[in-house]
Amino acid sequence: MSSDKYFNSATIEEMVNSLNSKWQRYPKDVIPLWLASPDFKVAPEIKEALHKAVDAEDVFYNSDLKPRLAMAAKVRRVNKIDVSENDVMIVQGVEPILWLAMKQACQPGDEVIIPNPAYNGFMAVMNNLNVKPAFWNLDYRDGYKFDEEQLKKLVNKNTKLISLCNPHNPAGRVMTKTELKAVADIAVDHKIHVFIDELWEDVRFDGREHISLASLNPEISDLTATAWGVSKTFGVAGLYLGYLASTNKQIVSNYRKNAATIQRGADTLSRAASPVMLDTTLDWWRRDLMFHLTKIRNICYKRMNEIPGVSFPNLEGTYVPFPRFDFGLKSEELHQFLLKEAKVGLYPGNVFGPLGEGHMRVCIATSETIINEALNRLEKALPKLKS
Ligand SMILES: Cc1ncc(COP(=O)(O)O)c(C=O)c1O
Repeated sequence: MSSDKYFNSATIEEMVNSLNSKWQRYPKDVIPLWLASPDFKVAPEIKEALHKAVDAEDVFYNSDLKPRLAMAAKVRRVNKIDVSENDVMIVQGVEPILWLAMKQACQPGDEVIIPNPAYNGFMAVMNNLNVKPAFWNLDYRDGYKFDEEQLKKLVNKNTKLISLCNPHNPAGRVMTKTELKAVADIAVDHKIHVFIDELWEDVRFDGREHISLASLNPEISDLTATAWGVSKTFGVAGLYLGYLASTNKQIVSNYRKNAATIQRGADTLSRAASPVMLDTTLDWWRRDLMFHLTKIRNICYKRMNEIPGVSFPNLEGTYVPFPRFDFGLKSEELHQFLLKEAKVGLYPGNVFGPLGEGHMRVCIATSETIINEALNRLEKALPKLKS
């Protein structure tokens, strides 16, 4: 395929010299599959937009109106949420939005309902702000379903926020309309704010649909703040470009207040390059990305499930599946074993919450050459452990 030059060309020899943190953490003989950072090229349209901004010396104080207009248009067109540019705030990537979201809704000691497992950024923010997690457990044996009855039981007078991520990192789920509707009904019934991180909205397999929670009805829309970004779809995490929006003006105003002076939005070059990542220019990239990732996912699904003791899930979304490893080792012990014996660096699952123990997160956004070599190494090393 012609897009192979962007998605499928990475070799170990080339990547070990990359400045990408993913390739810097371990010794050079380790294949790193831990960080959610793809081994892909940067889309030519993004490079061109960045070059143009440099040529125009767009490095002064300037307005962020143009990118906010592009963001609002994208949110209306793709996410079906009726916001204007005034309802959009630009932030330095999605990561700081996790903090702003909890700060907006919670005081120390309040409770936040959060899936278990959850993206580790959510865990870090709860510690930082001294809020208590009320874990909405996702069971891998059950296909990581979001169970409505369990959610109902978690709500109490201290619940100030339901904090979600869809598509879900690390469970790899794309929430169904029924699951989202259950969240909406419960939040509206109890008037609880919801924060939802939809950073992975483009990374969905087998034609699954991404439904934005806030698009379901005006009541849930007014309780919800939603975050999006560009780091996962385009592999440009270093641009530090994220944005949030809500139809509830008070929520956006609170975010702005908490962000004042410590959070200035993304830099001018990222902002200048943002329109091509928000309009339809790069729809070809979104399509070819999923074509490539489907190939890699299918290779991983087949080969990893053939290793006794490993259960590789049916990945619905994201490129960071969360297989289970039944070898009687804790995730951190397995991490050390795989580094030493397989020379493969995975992300220990316990980092993603108590139910992550026994799992490892694997970033599969790489070339066939690299993924096949990593799988060869895992197939050779894991049978040395008794399952
Ligand atoms: C669910 C989720 N939210 C936020 C982030 C951080 O995003 P960014 O790099 O855009 O700040 C990540 C990164 O992997 C993520 O998976």
